[in-house]
Amino acid sequence: MDSGFKIVAVVGAGPAGLFAARELASHDVRVVLFNRDIKPGGLAEYGIYPDKYKMREGLRNQFRQVLSLEGVEYFGNVRVGENADLTLDDLRQLGFQAILVTTGAQGTHWLNIPGEHLLRAYHAKQLVYHYNKLPPFSKMDIQLGSKVAIIGAGNVMIDLAHYLIAECNVQEITAIARRGPAEVKFDKKELELVAANLDYSDLDLQIEQTAPLMRALGQDPEQAREFIHSALEKASPAPSDAHFRIRFLLSPVRILDDGAGGVGGLELQVNTLVASGDQIRAIGTDERQMLAVDTVLFAVGDQVDEEFGLPVSGGEYIRNESPRYPVDGLSYEVCDPAQHRSLEGIFVAGWSRKSSTGLVGVARKDGVNGAKAILQYLDGQSVPLDFKLDDLCNRIHSVQPYAVSKQDLIRLDVVEQAEAAARGLVEFKFGTNDEMLAAMGILAAVTANPDRSSKG
Ligand SMILES: Cc1cc2nc3c(=O)[nH]c(=O)nc-3n(C[C@H](O)[C@H](O)[C@H](O)COP(=O)(O)OP(=O)(O)OC[C@H]3O[C@@H](n4cnc5c(N)ncnc54)[C@H](O)[C@@H]3O)c2cc1C
Ligand SMILES: NC(=O)c1ccc[n+]([C@@H]2O[C@H](COP(=O)([O-])OP(=O)(O)OC[C@H]3O[C@@H](n4cnc5c(N)ncnc54)[C@H](OP(=O)(O)O)[C@@H]3O)[C@@H](O)[C@H]2O)c1
Repeated sequence: MDSGFKIVAVVGAGPAGLFAARELASHDVRVVLFNRDIKPGGLAEYGIYPDKYKMREGLRNQFRQVLSLEGVEYFGNVRVGENADLTLDDLRQLGFQAILVTTGAQGTHWLNIPGEHLLRAYHAKQLVYHYNKLPPFSKMDIQLGSKVAIIGAGNVMIDLAHYLIAECNVQEITAIARRGPAEVKFDKKELELVAANLDYSDLDLQIEQTAPLMRALGQDPEQAREFIHSALEKASPAPSDAHFRIRFLLSPVRILDDGAGGVGGLELQVNTLVASGDQIRAIGTDERQMLAVDTVLFAVGDQVDEEFGLPVSGGEYIRNESPRYPVDGLSYEVCDPAQHRSLEGIFVAGWSRKSSTGLVGVARKDGVNGAKAILQYLDGQSVPLDFKLDDLCNRIHSVQPYAVSKQDLIRLDVVEQAEAAARGLVEFKFGTNDEMLAAMGILAAVTANPDRSSKG
């Protein structure tokens, strides 16, 4: 992969970055993927619920195909950003003609209410990364009580409820939705996984109480009720007798201290609903309720990494709303707010463009569109003459000797598959970077030759 080709850096090898790489490579553009995690896949590897083996393996196969392309290089365990292994300026100086940022939504969306720092208060991301074995979260000491509140009513809330019901010794789970039964965001298919544990009498009572407000807004309470009830038809068998309920029109305002630095309860504000254009919004009232819980989990979506080095507003990277290279009418260009124009050659896609929005298929399409915006940008640009992959490898190994190549990943796959077979498991994942680096022979290689930079 030396000079003679246009060359683009894709930062982040989740679904958006990987499918963007494939799109660029199919137009004879050479791509170098930089990924914070050793393994590719992002949330498709470390977010999707652990027992969805078939789906994850199907995606892994597609990712392996992308990485097998001759025009695509991979450097895992390499973080890009301010105070990281490489900055965006480093990438520019290394000769990349454009940079596509597909790092997902790595910032944590807290609600900034008192008590979020208490023991047994977690963001969904911490728990999801923990049970999916992403280092270093895999080794985090997660402590859960027996009565858990989950803030949010989306699919991540369902994943967490599923985990608590199936894997943890939890007695009671209460999902807290700030809006009403017609505004829940989870899918029926996902609800089926926890429907056998859902208290449908309590649900019916909640909907009955909300019905007058819903009708005043032109909503049909019966339709909302039927949607949630419809999950019962194909409900998975209950793996435990954990009690699961959903409460509506409530927003958390304070987590109480149990006197020992842990969660001792949750204070909630009662909301009402108002129509605002075609949106239904929650508005707080003066009424408060207390919920007796010892654990609080926030499943309210994420935001982009503010430390990355790109301008951020409202949890998202600022985009140029008058893009030079729009795709489907959307902007993939990062805006320099001081100059009111696009940052030269910097594009975003996937959850880095729209935080916490959509399934893998949506991220994939967005990555492809980000690549199409870059193809327009590259059109007419000349081919760099002095780009050398060896020089790039040397530079990367000088800042991150433990960088992982796509050949290393093949070795890791082989070792993990052998380990799964030996243990009689469907799959096996190492939970630390050191174990993965040892399995690929990289720990030994760096010990033998600490300055991998001279070897390329
Ligand atoms: C808990 C959960 C469960 C989900 N389950 C499903 C499901 O069952 N089915 C489904 O279709 N969708 C599911 N989704 C949605 C799906 O995972 C996302 O749509 C998709 O992964 C987003 O892709 P992305 O590439 O934009 O970001 P991500 O998948 O987040 O990938 C980002 C990549 O960027 C890398 N990165 C981050 N920061 C840096 C940096 N500074 N430098 C270099 N690299 C960096 C990361 O290592 C990662 O590989 C789930 C999401 C969550 C949160
Ligand atoms: N199995 C799967 O297929 C799967 C699993 C997990 C995730 N995903 C996908 O990943 C994406 C992200 O999922 P998600 O569940 O994180 O996001 P989501 O679907 O947007 O749900 C977030 C929930 O948090 C609530 N919320 C947001 N801000 C809040 C606040 N300030 N106070 C109180 N509540 C707040 C939202 O309420 P409002 O509606 O009122 O804003 C909503 O109920 C979605 O597209 C989802 O489908 C898919």
